[in-house]
Amino acid sequence: MDEFIDGAIEAGISVVFTSGNNPEPFMKQLKDNDIKVIHVASSVRFAKKAELLGCDAVVVNGYECGGHPGKNDTTSLTLIQKATQELSIPIIAAGGFSTGKSVLAALALGADGVQMGTRFLMAKENQLHQNVKEHLINSTEIDTIMVKKSIGKMARVLKTSHAIELAQKEEHGAAFEEIFPYISGESYSELIHNGNLSSGVIALGQTIGPIDDIKSTAEIMEEIVDDYKSRLLHLTGGRTIPLQ
Ligand SMILES: Cc1cc2nc3c(=O)[nH]c(=O)nc-3n(C[C@H](O)[C@H](O)[C@H](O)COP(=O)(O)O)c2cc1C
Repeated sequence: MDEFIDGAIEAGISVVFTSGNNPEPFMKQLKDNDIKVIHVASSVRFAKKAELLGCDAVVVNGYECGGHPGKNDTTSLTLIQKATQELSIPIIAAGGFSTGKSVLAALALGADGVQMGTRFLMAKENQLHQNVKEHLINSTEIDTIMVKKSIGKMARVLKTSHAIELAQKEEHGAAFEEIFPYISGESYSELIHNGNLSSGVIALGQTIGPIDDIKSTAEIMEEIVDDYKSRLLHLTGGRTIPLQ
């Protein structure tokens, strides 16, 4: 981590997102270098701690998200609202957002912005192997599964037969050595670079449901903005409200 922080400072990065652990050890160095720190939190408690530590904003990650949703199984719908009641710093909603409508919903709940992960797996620019992307076109909101709970790193991933096997092993109390081959960097690389769906596990959110195409990042952004505007227009009975 120290090397990453030094590298970010050297490169003149202006915003750093921290996640997965307490950002406290790095706060002083980052703030001394005028870097804004945004911490990713999976609970209101952790989000409040981040605010207390001087973070400039937080991402709150709900249960639907691809990757690590934390231990409380709290959905975005609840988490965002509660976070807005408890925090004064800006809140970026994450977990379940992939369309303009869902961005509008996040803002309606009080969020100041949205972070998307799953949507951009399906960006043309994403180097994820085409096999996996094409498989994801036909995946729905029920095609994710929780794994790595037994090692305290619960993550929502694409439900493949390989991931199901891993979850079953964990349920039966498999030792770390037994589950390691499923989650190793090598098996992940085989999945994302060679498109082998019988290897590795890849983070994926339930919001893969509404996503059914591969587009460029620019096209995805355009589609999100158009969808946001048309839904807002619908909700306001045709009155135009400027997009902020
Ligand atoms: C393939 C993939 C990899 C991710 N890797 C990380 C990561 O390394 N660190 C992190 O904080 N979040 C990671 N995330 C979580 C995203 O940053 C984001 O919070 C999450 O995907 C939001 O939920 P969504 O998937 O419903 O959009 C990852 C998500 C995906 C889909």
